[in-house]
Amino acid sequence: MTRIVKHTATGPLEVKPSDQSTWICMCGLSKNYPFCDGGHKLARQQETDGKVYVYENDTAREIEDPGNCPSV
Ligand code: FES
Repeated sequence: MTRIVKHTATGPLEVKPSDQSTWICMCGLSKNYPFCDGGHKLARQQETDGKVYVYENDTAREIEDPGNCPSV
């Protein structure tokens, strides 16, 4: 499973150490990025290993040629 995710940030976000765990989004689908909001469940539900996807309105669309990816 691979997905193409549009990032618009131009700098880092500081996450200070705390007593509680902080979950950082690694899938790129969180609406509260960089923190996980459970959006990764979409990837688990909609994606197949070995394919590449873009997401629009929480729906995965398979990309046949990732080198010719449309802007998202
Ligand atoms: S890892 Fe991305 S939303 Fe949870």
